[in-house]
Amino acid sequence: MKFVRFIMKNAALASAPKHIEHFSKFSPSPLSMKQFLDFGSINACEKTSFVFLRQELPVRLSNIMKEINLLPDRLLTTPSVQMVQSWYIQSLMEILEFLDRNPDDHKVLGQFVDTLVTIRNRHNDVVPTMAQGIIEYKEAFPQDPVTNQNIQYFLDRFYTSRISIRMLINQHTLIFDGTANPVHPNTIGSIDPHCHVGDVVQDAFHSAKMLCDQYYLRSPDLVLREMKTLCSPAGKKNPPVSIVYVPSHLYHMLFELFKNAMRATIETHESSDHLPPVHVLVSLGDEDVSIKVCDTGGGVPFRRIENLFSYMYSTAPAPQLGEHTRPPLAGFGYGLPISRLYAKYFQGDLQLYSMEGHGTDAVIYLKALSTDSIERLPVYNKTALKNYQLRQEADDWCVPSKEPLDLSNYKGPK
Ligand SMILES: Nc1ncnc2c1ncn2[C@@H]1O[C@H](COP(=O)(O)OP(=O)(O)O)[C@@H](O)[C@H]1O
Ligand SMILES: [Mg+2]
Repeated sequence: MKFVRFIMKNAALASAPKHIEHFSKFSPSPLSMKQFLDFGSINACEKTSFVFLRQELPVRLSNIMKEINLLPDRLLTTPSVQMVQSWYIQSLMEILEFLDRNPDDHKVLGQFVDTLVTIRNRHNDVVPTMAQGIIEYKEAFPQDPVTNQNIQYFLDRFYTSRISIRMLINQHTLIFDGTANPVHPNTIGSIDPHCHVGDVVQDAFHSAKMLCDQYYLRSPDLVLREMKTLCSPAGKKNPPVSIVYVPSHLYHMLFELFKNAMRATIETHESSDHLPPVHVLVSLGDEDVSIKVCDTGGGVPFRRIENLFSYMYSTAPAPQLGEHTRPPLAGFGYGLPISRLYAKYFQGDLQLYSMEGHGTDAVIYLKALSTDSIERLPVYNKTALKNYQLRQEADDWCVPSKEPLDLSNYKGPK
């Protein structure tokens, strides 16, 4: 019996490329925050969500699996990337088993939730495993700018796709597993229709501060200010800024920014008794909610800013992963790039404005209106393919000569 199951499983896996080919021909369907809320509102329909997901999840998985295959061979064949790829194939095949199941059968719906939970757990370690693959590749082969650019392009899309797939899975499992969320009864899945930005700032700051205290035995304080562009009637205090958002995403971004701001502040003011605070300004406009995190941690040279968003770069020593190590304050170099992806996922952004010698302002931009917060998703098409086929070409800006030109002997063109 075991043998028969083994044979059947292998036969199913062998058919994976055919399915990937088929589903990658469809474009993913981006959902708006409003659609997410409708899926989970009073008239939430598990059947509709099931029917949508059993098509949409294979489409999103297959689109990104086509791109994994375009990675340089030497990276694709590392054990870590092979492992990630096998997780994707297995999860795809598990979802496809539901394609011909009856949506009116409650047992089927229950099994679907269980399968999604299994898939979510299987993919928990995708980011560190992929990062390990990149490290193995970086150590074994010389770096070239075109390959680096391809890897950056790929990882931005790959991690965005992962964020989106987890979002879909979380919404379905949280809404339809039959239990209410005891801690946050008003959330719809992972979305808070009244997410108080200031509260998330406080939470994330508190966690970063605890980590910082453990590590450096001291930490800067927070000064938080919230403002709204809309004039409130005289004498009336503004209510706290709130948006429809996924609090865990916002927390993730802020936690990363605070860890960076704290590290920079402490290392720059090492010899001083007084640590300048980290200032946070939350501003609500008609279109944007902007959250600025300002530190006086010495800043970063302008030339290096884009590097900070690279998956190949960190100035902190790489932390050793182990069961009993505490979470590091810095070191993987993934804090900023992944945070920017979270911001961009719902049409926002994350930017750094730094003044070397003084400090850094990091700004998170989010959409103020839930109708503007629409998933931003990669799609595998000819344009994407072309981006992987870029070759190194001559620069179209002059490269300055290292030797100064001796103008006294300069003859010039005849
Ligand atoms: N506020 C800041 N002030 C100074 N340097 C910063 C700041 N934020 C980020 N950096 C620099 O950017 C690098 C990358 O940051 P990040 O992506 O969070 O990765 P990590 O913190 O793991 O190194 C840091 O190592 C640090 O050199
Ligand atoms: Mg960091």
